[in-house]
Amino acid sequence: MKKLIIISLLLSLYISCDSFNILINDVEEPLQTTEPETEPDQDENPPAYIEDHNRNSRGIYFGAAVNPDYLTESLYKSTLTDNFNTIVIENDMKFSYLQPSEGNFNFSKADTAVDYAVETGMSIRGHVLLWHNDHQIPNWLKSKNYSKMQNQIETHIENVMTHYSGKIYAWDVANEIFLDNAQGLRNRNLSGEEYSVWANSNTDDSVIRAAFYKADEVRKDLEDDVKLFLCDYSNETLGHAKADLFYSYVESWVNDGVPIDGVGFQMHLDGRYTPDYSNIRANIDRYHALGLEVQFTEIDIRMDVSDGLSDDELNIQADIYEELMNIVIEKDLDTYITWGITDKYSWIPYTFSGMGGALMFDEEYTPKKCFDKVITLIE
Ligand code: XIL
Repeated sequence: MKKLIIISLLLSLYISCDSFNILINDVEEPLQTTEPETEPDQDENPPAYIEDHNRNSRGIYFGAAVNPDYLTESLYKSTLTDNFNTIVIENDMKFSYLQPSEGNFNFSKADTAVDYAVETGMSIRGHVLLWHNDHQIPNWLKSKNYSKMQNQIETHIENVMTHYSGKIYAWDVANEIFLDNAQGLRNRNLSGEEYSVWANSNTDDSVIRAAFYKADEVRKDLEDDVKLFLCDYSNETLGHAKADLFYSYVESWVNDGVPIDGVGFQMHLDGRYTPDYSNIRANIDRYHALGLEVQFTEIDIRMDVSDGLSDDELNIQADIYEELMNIVIEKDLDTYITWGITDKYSWIPYTFSGMGGALMFDEEYTPKKCFDKVITLIE
């Protein structure tokens, strides 16, 4: 963790220089309140960036997804910089925005947030080089000619990683590559058409492997130590079919030498269900045994808001947020990022009918009980 802090410090100095219908956690069990096994990694003299920016003492990338449009809102900005040390950009680094027509890159909107993060000494996660969401993949990429597409994807990776070189600590190289219900690779789009940018069959992962090799080549050329990640939802719980399928692919990549540094558990959770914490821990352990990192990359805990949110519900939500942070600390993970800052701007109500209130700050930017609990663990 000290190394991470030093790297972050050096980096910041150098820089100043849809289909989430599956209930992710369907096993109910009593909440565990496991104490962290490891002591906080506290320095007597924490690096300046921690003191200067109200950062946490453990060196955890504690972050939130940001929409550059809202950075004009002072409360949005201050809530971000006062409470978090890391950003990820919610949409604007996705393929269709960065390369709307072939060969024409447009980094301007994403750069607004990147520049803001650099100015304020925040770290940045890169999301995402390859993702399947139909409207966030440009039509020109959908040729169904996989060797042509592979070249186009490699060109995209090279340009985007080069543009952001030295500013991003981890890239989501690929995201959500598996079909729900663990039927293999996502070879169908969200409308059910038998086609996706990932694969022309549900077992052929060659385009995705090639993306990792390309990203590795680019980072080496750039002498950039950015980490390369594969992420998904419903992949956090050992024994869950999709999580086990996800693991089996990653394991085969590691055995074959595919350059991957870690996996992201998005953690879009449904607060009506208690996560299976022990199998989340066991899942992390098996990735660590493979030599890979695990990051929590898109946490939100959606609640049934049809009758408002009761204190009991807020407490349940807070317990889940807290336990996820306990896991991060106990397993020495380096990243705890929520998918947004405030309930005022969250994708949840638009995606899950009747659900909302998923983030740590409410619509008025007041910290909720979950924030208090999480921050207590990392101050
Ligand atoms: C979501 C955004 O939050 C929405 O604004 C957008 O309309 C669709 O994408 N998993 C991911 C994210 O990896 O990129 C998704 O973000 C949420 C689910």
